[in-house]
Amino acid sequence: MSGRPEGRAGPCTFDPDAVDLRALDRAHLAALHRQRPDDLRVVGYGEVSLAFAWPPRAPTVVAKSLPPFADGARLRSYEALLEEYLGVLAARGVAVLPTAVRAVADRTRPRAYVLQPWVAPERIGPTVLAAADTERGADLLREVVANVLRASDDQVGIDGQVSNWALVDGRLHYLDVSTPMLRDAAGRDRLDTAPFAAAVPWLLRWPVERFVAPALLAPYHDARRVLLDTAGNLLRERLAHWLPALLEHANPHLGAPLTIPEVQRFYRGNARAWSALQALRRADRAWQRHVRRRPYGFLLPTSYRR
Ligand SMILES: Nc1ncnc2c1ncn2[C@@H]1O[C@H](COP(=O)(O)OP(=O)(O)O)[C@@H](O)[C@H]1O
Ligand SMILES: [Mg+2]
Repeated sequence: MSGRPEGRAGPCTFDPDAVDLRALDRAHLAALHRQRPDDLRVVGYGEVSLAFAWPPRAPTVVAKSLPPFADGARLRSYEALLEEYLGVLAARGVAVLPTAVRAVADRTRPRAYVLQPWVAPERIGPTVLAAADTERGADLLREVVANVLRASDDQVGIDGQVSNWALVDGRLHYLDVSTPMLRDAAGRDRLDTAPFAAAVPWLLRWPVERFVAPALLAPYHDARRVLLDTAGNLLRERLAHWLPALLEHANPHLGAPLTIPEVQRFYRGNARAWSALQALRRADRAWQRHVRRRPYGFLLPTSYRR
């Protein structure tokens, strides 16, 4: 992708073209085939995409699998939208990890990956926060809040959860960009959610595209809702002791301040909803594999931490 300082990518050297994409793709497909990561070095199980460090023994990049695109044109429009999203975030003062899209030509449909420099686990948000002293942790949370306030409005969305930030060269960098949340002037999501909707049980696909996808994306366009989610996620990450500091930085900017009971209620509701979705996905996987005898295109986490 153009417009990003690839190669000399700010904090880390990053050369997406040096990646042996075929080997990476083969390893990913083999893991899907086994339905077990084994030697694939998984760093994140997303709802839609799997993030894994590559090459496994001495990682230089993280690859995030994208859902299959029907054709090259659809992949190119995704890539253009992602590029635009990266530009918008940068223009709003959010530092973003260098990001590129690379695809393997498949006989039928391109299989594409979002590539970023690999960041060591001790520099990813939750680990940084777990190890931080009071002052440093409060600084980081202030930075998260400031980024969310700058980047979430009707046009642009961002996911503030601490797991979406990496501390590189002393500065938080946003990494969760593979769902570019941009809307047009009429308020419609510009992302074509059809390929992404394939990650949920097929019975739900139609309503997901039509109704659920916009509803899933909408919260990321509202700063208060993003910060509520960021706060709730601290509970999931066993970082509840940082909740007061987050609220202290967030609340002066919000019309209605967030309270700890509100965050706790929100977290409990969310945990139930995601557990239900995961159970549904596991049931769908069993159906696809054992009844329909079709390969299942995703790796599911073995358990959901709440
Ligand atoms: N460039 C990276 N280097 C190291 N770890 C990463 C990187 N990108 C993502 N991760 C890990 O994978 C997790 C999921 O990636 P993310 O882009 O946030 O996708 P998701 O949409 O699934 O949340 C992150 O929370 C982080 O722990
Ligand atoms: Mg994330």
